[in-house]
Amino acid sequence: MASTTQIEVCSIGKKYGKFKALGDINLGIAEGEFLSLLGPSGSGKTTLLTLIGGYDAPSSGRLLFDGQDMTNWPAKQRGFGMVFQGYALFPHLTVAENIAFPLKVQKRSKAQIADRVAQMVEMVGLSGHEAKKPTALSGGQQQRVALARALAYEPKVLLLDEPFSALDKNLRGQMQEELRRLHRDLGTTFVFVTHDQEEALALSTHIAIFNHGELQQIGTPEEVYERPANRFTAEFLGDINLLSLDGSTGCLAETAIELPKTIAGQSHLAIRPEHMRLAADDDAIQLPVRLRDRVYLGSKSRLLLETSGGEELMLYLDNDPTDMRPGSELRVAWDARDSFAV
Ligand SMILES: Nc1ncnc2c1ncn2[C@@H]1O[C@H](COP(=O)(O)OP(=O)(O)O)[C@@H](O)[C@H]1O
Ligand SMILES: [Mg+2]
Repeated sequence: MASTTQIEVCSIGKKYGKFKALGDINLGIAEGEFLSLLGPSGSGKTTLLTLIGGYDAPSSGRLLFDGQDMTNWPAKQRGFGMVFQGYALFPHLTVAENIAFPLKVQKRSKAQIADRVAQMVEMVGLSGHEAKKPTALSGGQQQRVALARALAYEPKVLLLDEPFSALDKNLRGQMQEELRRLHRDLGTTFVFVTHDQEEALALSTHIAIFNHGELQQIGTPEEVYERPANRFTAEFLGDINLLSLDGSTGCLAETAIELPKTIAGQSHLAIRPEHMRLAADDDAIQLPVRLRDRVYLGSKSRLLLETSGGEELMLYLDNDPTDMRPGSELRVAWDARDSFAV
């Protein structure tokens, strides 16, 4: 996979009237990357995707493509593929005609179009459905047509806005697998909008996390999950245990547990539940807790715990601890390297 920067977002801002939908966004997208724009509803994801695609103009800043300023290029000149939220297929056209549409606009020859449509239909697993109208297809099939149509003319960049949000969980998982495969096989740059953390972690080579129109962090899934830049990212990406820090003593609040390095200005120590365990005798950190509840989950149990200061913690145990009752006094441990201040 090449790693040259293909798209550069330089100080991009977007206002709707007085409302600032996007702050001052700077990020680079490498050729062949699968970048997810992840954030809660209203955080500016669609706005940024729309600006990259050229469907709207930014209020400030510049967009570069292969080093060239494309800020004022119309969408057509950029030629990026786009899969919109919802399916947005032409209802009066068949599957084959929907996929052929962008190729006809490009005035490709009939033979070329027929070849390419056949290839795309096979790629998205819709062989035998070519003559059907969209209404005769399931949601997943319709989304495959939308994907095939967007990829038919081999765009250098594919933009996808929450393409699977209308699908049920099983189908969504299946479509995610197919999208991963497509990305791997094609090597096209994918920019993918989602509010689903698991989806972003599972699909992406890189994730850009947004909140209130501001970029919070960008990195690989491992980087943003294991080393969140701030509390928003830490809490947005999966479960997190937070323990108050006592700034004056450099200890965990209400304990004598010293931290290897407290970070100035940070109020909490964060530990992912999967990095927390019941303490063994030789663990350096031993935090006393009381068991509030135990939830049996089949392959594991989830323990809900409370510190003496009333802070709630969560951890998972692989084996069902049958001798533990709510109210039990326990100790938890973690490795200092798995904790971070936020
Ligand atoms: N055309 C528009 N006019 C006014 N406000 C808009 C428009 N489009 C989006 N917004 C606002 O900008 C913010 C970001 O929207 P959007 O980018 O669609 O968020 P997301 O895709 O992350 O859910 C929201 O508060 C939304 O209401
Ligand atoms: Mg959106």
